[in-house]
Amino acid sequence: DGPGRSVDLAAVSRTGPDDDYRGRGLVLPPGFVLGSATAAYQVEGGAHEGGRGPSIWDTFSRTPGKVWGGDTGDVAADQYHRLDQDLDLMASLGLHAYRFSVAWSRVQPTGRGPANPEGLAFYDRLVDGLLARGITPVATLYHWDLPQALEDEGGWPVRATAEAFADYAALLGTALGDRVGTWTTMNEPWCSAYLGYGSGAHAPGRTEPAAALAAVHHLNLGHGLAVQALRAASTGTPEYSVTLNMHVFRGEGEGAADAVRLVDGLANRVFLQPLLEGGYPEDVVAATAALTDWSFVRDGDAATVRQPLDVLGVNYYATTRVRRWDGTGPRLMADGHKDMGGTPWPGADHVEFLPQPGPHTDMGWNIEPAGLEEVLVDLAARYPGLPLMVTENGAAFADEVVEDPTAPGGRAVHDVERVDYLRRHVTACHRALARGVDLRGYLVWSLLDNFEWGYGYSKRFGIVRVDYETQERLPKDSARWFSELARTGTVPA
Ligand code: NOJ
Repeated sequence: DGPGRSVDLAAVSRTGPDDDYRGRGLVLPPGFVLGSATAAYQVEGGAHEGGRGPSIWDTFSRTPGKVWGGDTGDVAADQYHRLDQDLDLMASLGLHAYRFSVAWSRVQPTGRGPANPEGLAFYDRLVDGLLARGITPVATLYHWDLPQALEDEGGWPVRATAEAFADYAALLGTALGDRVGTWTTMNEPWCSAYLGYGSGAHAPGRTEPAAALAAVHHLNLGHGLAVQALRAASTGTPEYSVTLNMHVFRGEGEGAADAVRLVDGLANRVFLQPLLEGGYPEDVVAATAALTDWSFVRDGDAATVRQPLDVLGVNYYATTRVRRWDGTGPRLMADGHKDMGGTPWPGADHVEFLPQPGPHTDMGWNIEPAGLEEVLVDLAARYPGLPLMVTENGAAFADEVVEDPTAPGGRAVHDVERVDYLRRHVTACHRALARGVDLRGYLVWSLLDNFEWGYGYSKRFGIVRVDYETQERLPKDSARWFSELARTGTVPA
């Protein structure tokens, strides 16, 4: 059993409210995977232990003004020291799968050379601990924490980084490829390329549009090389995947279709096409011609990048509203990245990003479960035969701990908004299934409150509350709700 099991469509209940995404009582198909996700730098802590080398996020979070409150991932949710407790927590919630990421600089402190045994030992314990509890390990190789030494040599804009990534993948395949259920090469390469090298909102904080586009290609290439290396080294029967943060665009005004086509190219098709079809979309190459001639793409790369995949991971949170900009007056850039000195949209200078109508989460992101249904249905139509998995979905809200004598321990987090958000998005998955999408599972972001990148610890996405003073874990109401969902396969009342 695991993410690979196929979905029995006949078992998908078609009863229940179909119009408001509050699908109480809807039944998910047997084998549908319900689990949670985290990432190394966001939860592990232990940043200077076990021989771990520095990553670009260690450097970036120490750079004044880059992360809210000067927060760093040095301690985070301390999972490095609380592994057994967190594994027991997942088991107690009845989760089917845990999506975690491996910190490259734990395994190779400088991004190259032999594996650091202490680094591998941590992930060995994690994988074994999951399997011992009947939880499928879904391992991401790269969730944004590039070894600093590789950034010093040029980072993702240079080809050598993709080649180094293949060597790292081979080490992981050898060490864990007998037990991992699903390998995911990259997490949200859009963020690594465009926020890391375009807007500068993420590490390494560079604002070089041409470098961002070179990074797009080398992330794609790194994926292809890594799948080859993992396949060669893994002795078990893992599945192979990549996770994209698919952007769902809504266009407004005159020229809306062109504006949407352009940003869809830059954000979605620039990954989907090379990864799944081969080669880059011509309109994207044309739109960015003033910035780069794309000569970093070499003969043979298209075939390397396009590897057969078992499942495509989709991260979804909100939609994006765009409009054609005629170049007069101030340009609206309400995409959350406007004050960083660069743009995450190289080649889209004539597109504006409009504020979204509410309701919003604490991130300021609009809540629109229909966007999730839509993206799943669109992907299934475009890539028939490729199973999908929601590898992240969830919401930050300003949770409060309250005294509650009826709760275990006398304290609770009644996060009704998060429960509602999750319910509506799981319902969107159900609707996609009912429309014939081969959707294998849904992983909630996140198991724990954690380091939310540029927002530090100020945003809480967990279904389990973390008290950063004591590191105490307190399951929120959403954890109980999700646990019931995972145990019963039925959307709870
Ligand atoms: C996507 C990223 O993969 C994850 O690291 C992040 O915390 C969530 N979205 C929420 O922003």
